[in-house]
Amino acid sequence: MSSHDEKSRITNSLATTVVHAGLDKAQQGRAFSQGPAFASTFHLSGEVENGHHQYARFHNPTWDSLEQALAELEEGASLVFPSGMAAGAAVMTSFVESGDTIMLQSDGYYATRAYAEAFLSKFGVTIKAVPTLELINQDYSTVKLVFVESPSNPLLDVIDIAALAEKAHASGCLLAIDNTTLTPLGQQPLKLGADISMCSDTKALNGHSDVVFGHVATKNQELYEAMLLWRKLSGNIPGPMETWLVHRGLATLDMRLERMTNNAQILAEWLEQHPKVKMTRYPGLNNDPSHRLATQQMSHFGFIISFDLGNKKNADQFLANSKLIFEATSFGGVHTMAERRARWGTDQVSEGLIRLSVGCENVEDLKQDLSQALELVSS
Ligand SMILES: Cc1ncc(COP(=O)(O)O)c(C=O)c1O
Repeated sequence: MSSHDEKSRITNSLATTVVHAGLDKAQQGRAFSQGPAFASTFHLSGEVENGHHQYARFHNPTWDSLEQALAELEEGASLVFPSGMAAGAAVMTSFVESGDTIMLQSDGYYATRAYAEAFLSKFGVTIKAVPTLELINQDYSTVKLVFVESPSNPLLDVIDIAALAEKAHASGCLLAIDNTTLTPLGQQPLKLGADISMCSDTKALNGHSDVVFGHVATKNQELYEAMLLWRKLSGNIPGPMETWLVHRGLATLDMRLERMTNNAQILAEWLEQHPKVKMTRYPGLNNDPSHRLATQQMSHFGFIISFDLGNKKNADQFLANSKLIFEATSFGGVHTMAERRARWGTDQVSEGLIRLSVGCENVEDLKQDLSQALELVSS
């Protein structure tokens, strides 16, 4: 019988990779997937080097399978974490030293900045935050790490990752990309020159709104070892059940993204024309400021649309009247969800801005629901 590894060598497409990656070799009578390895420790006789699986804070076979799958998608060694924030904290904490400077986005995910400002600045790390579109013009000569998401969330500005990598590297600065809004099927940051790719797998990668999870990937052995050591010593480890669920969710990622991104394109074009919508951002729109770069470096335009209904009252009316859209603060799930971002008071966005995460429902049903909810918006 041919092994699973032999079969996967004929894989040309990441759509096939997500289905097969990280599975064990095919063996007569064995299940395709071994299920979660619930363990706190493993048999380990003699010298500690005798076993890869020693203690479950260091390694777990269920992590190994998912990390192997993610490594294939990212084209770099991967490490799994119990949340996107834990993965982001590993990036920002494990190799940065007192006296270093980290550059972040002022218009990116709020909690990333909040972590850095609350914890890293206490230990003498300087945090600088600049808008996404100004990142390329910064001086990186005194910066240790620039950590940014592209497209940014929620306003979907895109940075030229290859150009930023070149600029940062010329000054000896490392580049980490938060790839949450696209996943490795929408963009491969390591191939574009980034040193680290990071993702909150809570979102589209797992895709079912039932797990909080994250991962990093890198081709740089030193960075890999630093993040591995941080995970091991800080105990920031994911449970085997969650890890197994994410691996299961990964298998349908390409299929889900195909539906979600097609839906998003149709809905963005429709919203853009709607008289009650003041502004629509979606990188797939020809006239969107992100469109040119998105076409160059992304293999899909994503499933997030941001649109403005002018004020808080209109946005609240729209959300209250929608029958199909879950009002929730996340994105990337099979269910369409939306929220008025300004309700958190953490993002620099207008009061009427809705972030819509388009799911896998039938697009005509979604359009009908959006249409009737917009109809009931008073101005
Ligand atoms: C872009 C981005 N990065 C990181 C995170 C943090 O991920 P998690 O909630 O899995 O900790 C989020 C969560 O919303 C996010 O949107």
